[in-house]
Amino acid sequence: MQTHEIRRRFLDHFVRAGHTEVPSASLILADPNLLFVNAGMVQFVPYFLGQQTPPYARATSVQKCVRTLDIENVGITTRHNTFFQMAGNFSFGDYFKREAISLAWTLLTAPVADGGYGFDPERLWVTVYLDDDEAERMWLEIGVPSERIQRRGMADNYWSMGIPGPCGPCSEIYFDRGPEFGVEGGPEADEDRYIEIWNLVFMQNERGQGRGKDDFEILGPLPKQNIDTGMGVERVAFLLQGVENVYETDLLRPIIDKAEELTGRSYGVEHADDVRFRVIADHARTAAMLIADGVNPGNDGRGYVLRRLLRRIVRSARLLGAEKPVMAEFMRIVSDLMAPSYPELATDLRRIETVAVGEETAFLKTLNTGSTLFDNTAAAVKAEGGRTIPGTDAFTLHDTYGFPIDLTLEMAAEAGLAVDEDGFRTLMAEQRKRAKEDAQARKHAHADLTIYKELVDRGATEFTGFDELTSEATVLALIIDGVRAPVASQGQDVEVILDRSPLYAESGGQIADRGTITASGVKLRVDDVQKIAKTLWVHKATVEQGQITEGDAVLAQADQAWRNGATQGHSGTHMVHAALRQVLGPNAVQAGSLNKPGYLRFDFNWQGQLSDRQKADIEAVSNDAVGANFPVNTFVTDLPDAKRMGALALFGENYGDEVRVVEIGGPFSMELCGGTHVRHSSQIGPITLLGESSVGSGIRRVEAFVGLDSYRYLAKERALLAGVASSLKVPSDEVPARVEQLVERLKVAEKELERTKTAAVLASAASFVDKAERIGSVLLVAVAAPEGVPAGDLRTLATDIRGRFGAEPAVVVLLGDVDGKVPFVVTVNKPAQELGFKAGDLVSSFGSSIAGRGGGKPEMAQGAGSDPTGIAAGLAAVRARVAESAG
Ligand code: SER
Repeated sequence: MQTHEIRRRFLDHFVRAGHTEVPSASLILADPNLLFVNAGMVQFVPYFLGQQTPPYARATSVQKCVRTLDIENVGITTRHNTFFQMAGNFSFGDYFKREAISLAWTLLTAPVADGGYGFDPERLWVTVYLDDDEAERMWLEIGVPSERIQRRGMADNYWSMGIPGPCGPCSEIYFDRGPEFGVEGGPEADEDRYIEIWNLVFMQNERGQGRGKDDFEILGPLPKQNIDTGMGVERVAFLLQGVENVYETDLLRPIIDKAEELTGRSYGVEHADDVRFRVIADHARTAAMLIADGVNPGNDGRGYVLRRLLRRIVRSARLLGAEKPVMAEFMRIVSDLMAPSYPELATDLRRIETVAVGEETAFLKTLNTGSTLFDNTAAAVKAEGGRTIPGTDAFTLHDTYGFPIDLTLEMAAEAGLAVDEDGFRTLMAEQRKRAKEDAQARKHAHADLTIYKELVDRGATEFTGFDELTSEATVLALIIDGVRAPVASQGQDVEVILDRSPLYAESGGQIADRGTITASGVKLRVDDVQKIAKTLWVHKATVEQGQITEGDAVLAQADQAWRNGATQGHSGTHMVHAALRQVLGPNAVQAGSLNKPGYLRFDFNWQGQLSDRQKADIEAVSNDAVGANFPVNTFVTDLPDAKRMGALALFGENYGDEVRVVEIGGPFSMELCGGTHVRHSSQIGPITLLGESSVGSGIRRVEAFVGLDSYRYLAKERALLAGVASSLKVPSDEVPARVEQLVERLKVAEKELERTKTAAVLASAASFVDKAERIGSVLLVAVAAPEGVPAGDLRTLATDIRGRFGAEPAVVVLLGDVDGKVPFVVTVNKPAQELGFKAGDLVSSFGSSIAGRGGGKPEMAQGAGSDPTGIAAGLAAVRARVAESAG
């Protein structure tokens, strides 16, 4: 049975049993604790906790999940996959154990012809939590004999997200693959032979902080008894398709076939190659799914995971012998395979390809730079007679150049060198520890939010700021230093929660309003407003006068000038976004934005710099739209309707059922947006693009001023130009021609100066000959060249001096000093070469004194050092070496 079919049958089965089919949430839900969504229940947590009322009592979904903890093991075994689909059914205070057990059993064992999976009931085993007699009884009633029911402890059969939240005992269903896969004795004995396919969680408690799977405090029961189940779609697929593991199933094996085609190697011949094939298959799919959900390669968090996945694909393909780029082909095949269930993989293929190929190109460059660095390191190690690449170098290659350790190992072996792997691993462990501490810190940030929970539960803050800037409100709570407080007095910083507020809370790129909260004799200055759980407005304020008490009736007021500015910025962002898409096309997808009074910045997916022409066009289209005085319409509708109209939505944003659409100039700009906007586009005022830059791989940023700030900026530019014109004593419009002329003259003058200097240096050759010292049978000129003589002249000078010695054996060593660098030249004439002197060898005598390297032939060697303070010592060293050899 094909994987898409397995998925469909699951949803149909539960829809028939009265469940609402809910689409998979994005892989990146806005939760500071979760790198990626890793279970079907994640999007339903507020319903389990009773924080929100679910719109349905029963739901079913197939959730995209990513778990990257075991990334190193992917491919080495066939058990780990970074991407998988979890099919689940959920009951929010509706049915409980009995129905969950019976629904799961029916789907697994019903014949294929009747819409089931047709598993042989004799080969299914189940587990229950230690004291869960009730669940055991229900399994017995359904017909599972007691010898195939096992009881297991907390680590296996008590499920939680690993962090505070809903939890409960669970019951798991396993399939027995048969004696050829392991020992008898059920899941308790062997989880390779007995494969877990479905986990039924009886979600009834809330857990607190703790350590590990089986060591946490149960805080108490949830408001209701719930069901959360998770069936591994890929596992069911490999069992039903009669293949050995997930990599052989219909959705992964074709990627391996493609990799065989691109690399010319075969799967199933050598273990090392198979690991690489599996890495490619697993990672290509995960990477495509992540990019589809808006993740871009980066240096930390989610972006870093994606970067690692993509780089591991490139590396594996190279090790399999691929010489050309491979990424586009892999993204295409993943799209073909996954699109029947996830259409965005087809509609967004161009973008997915662009992002993945961008990273591939960058990494291939990295591999090349890394290779040069590796060659230099290897040469240096050998020159010093060593046999091992130090751990620090391997780590630098890995960390700074993204150069993977197994490539370092392989190349070292080819060069006949070892690598200090222990040293490397110690440094890696230290780095991992830092990353872990970082993750811990994220969890604490989450814990701090618990103070708001009760307030979030009490209901959302009413936002009045679309219609008015001043509103009457009641103080619901005050928080000082993270603790609830009944009053706040003059001078104190306090967080204020109101029942309603006209102040805009930071979101969708628009920064928070500034404003005041006042009552008779009381005044608070509000400097920031943040949303908690998307619904609760937290005003960060300072009491400037009087004291404020919980329950007070107050007047909340947004600063009008500030709001106007931010509004211009936000509407301006929509104009620039629309203009970008008009000029660059629909692949310029928004990756972030910020707007504040007078200023906006907009990040978008794009490879490479924008041309001057593109920038000018974007600015022109934006300003034309301002000039067109388009009316601005906002309205609320549902998400499918908004998408049908062509409204642009942000990746990774989890929209509710109702969305707000902001439309400026009909088809010109239509976006889902909760921000504040001008009424007519002309109110934005002029938009001046400041420039464009890179903010990470494949993401560009444009910045602009709007409104009066635009004017101020242009006025400043004009004043600057006027200043330059007056210094040059020409009218403004002649400045470019004049500057060009001056630059030309400067170039001519510099060349002339250069020539004069070279002539002077060469004229001094004779004086260097006078400085020759006789050491044994050779004449040695070892001197510091005058400061500022460049490497090229140094070489000419050295050759000239050498020529002046005729048939006398002579060695010339010149060390220069140019901008903190020490260029050097060593040259040995024929008679001296016959005595055994070699220019290349002499470099090693003084190289370390000037922190330099270089080399060459017996006649001539050159290079550069970076420590001018070692020049004298270097010259002494070369003298000593010549004396040694001459004596
Ligand atoms: N939440 C449970 C799991 O992830 C069942 O859906 O296994």
